[in-house]
Amino acid sequence: MTTIPADIDQDVLDAHVARLFADLSAGYGGVMVSIGTRLGLYAAMAGQGAPSAPEVAARAGCAERYAREWLNSQRYLVYHASRERYELTPESALVLADADSPVFLPHAWQVVASMWADEERAADTMRTGEGVPWGEHDRRLYCGVAAFFRNGYAAKLVLHWLPAFDGVVERLARGARIADVGCGHGHSTLLMARAYLRSRFFGYDTHQGSIDEARRLAAAAGLADRVSFERADSESYRERELDLICFFDCRPDMGHPVRAARHARSALVRDGSVMFVEPTAGDRVEDNINPVGRQRRQQDPSAALERVARSSMRSSWRRAWPIAFGTKHGASPVAQRIRPAASLRIHRAASVAERSAPAGSRPCMRSLSHWSRTVLARVKALEIR
Ligand SMILES: C[S@@+](CC[C@H](N)C(=O)[O-])C[C@H]1O[C@@H](n2cnc3c(N)ncnc32)[C@H](O)[C@@H]1O
Repeated sequence: MTTIPADIDQDVLDAHVARLFADLSAGYGGVMVSIGTRLGLYAAMAGQGAPSAPEVAARAGCAERYAREWLNSQRYLVYHASRERYELTPESALVLADADSPVFLPHAWQVVASMWADEERAADTMRTGEGVPWGEHDRRLYCGVAAFFRNGYAAKLVLHWLPAFDGVVERLARGARIADVGCGHGHSTLLMARAYLRSRFFGYDTHQGSIDEARRLAAAAGLADRVSFERADSESYRERELDLICFFDCRPDMGHPVRAARHARSALVRDGSVMFVEPTAGDRVEDNINPVGRQRRQQDPSAALERVARSSMRSSWRRAWPIAFGTKHGASPVAQRIRPAASLRIHRAASVAERSAPAGSRPCMRSLSHWSRTVLARVKALEIR
């Protein structure tokens, strides 16, 4: 057995062990968040003050003994020890119980679950350098990603992001043609379609399962007459004369973002616009050493490859590199590589979400640290003129 060498700094070692235990605890906690959401345990506590374990169990229809254990595992609750009661504060309820809140986050754990399920594949990918098509991942990836982003889009897209583009909302209100490339389940497409009744929307994605779900949602919303979803990739969709082409959190998944931008250029009307929406990041590794950077997989090599490899590209990441930019970087690759290669003129490249928030409004999560800033500043806007 390895003994701990005398020259090891015990405090530094302890800090590493403590960090790993904190991460392990978060890993266990993710399953508990998922179970709590699925069984309605958080919902049973929202607005109830500080219920007891039997009260929570009764409201959620769960066995009391297990509900108590679940409650005791929760780091998101305030425990009132003297009364043996558990409180879900209004702030925690926004994050964990209110499915329409812009900061409702439990579904993010589905993505983590999908990564564990895909571990073998990710390990193979690291050995071979080959890619994994998006559609071959564990199904929880698709639901998790779609649900994770949906409420943020609902809070920001129509109210803040689109108005930040000169002339775009006026055009959409008059009646325009909009493509949503890499649309996934189409939540972004449907939000725009609900807001702009005279416009026509085209969603494209390479993953048939996502297209099927997007079509189902469009039909359920009564929007199928103005919104179509089609399986097509970013370099081959056929629609032309588009006024606006959007890429929501999919450009990093693309093997050839420059070709995607060139194709977008050819599909636009002369003064059309392109919008890239992505979590904000820095260009350098050291700019992304924060919880969001880690979550976006820059710091963890196996997970970073998983993200890159989960792109729809069938060629290997190695072959595609350096065309595929990877997972976590700032605006530079867009400005330096995509823009000139696709003959784009940057009309505005900024973090429009922050700028466009109306005076007096309270953008969600302003007070939180890395993650909040990321959500607030999700847009790197790029217009083509
Ligand atoms: C992270 S998901 C984002 C989905 C959706 N836009 C959203 O924000 O929830 C990335 C999506 O891009 C799609 N995708 C990746 N490469 C693509 C390509 N070359 N052409 C079209 N879709 C692509 C994937 O199938 C996946 O649905």
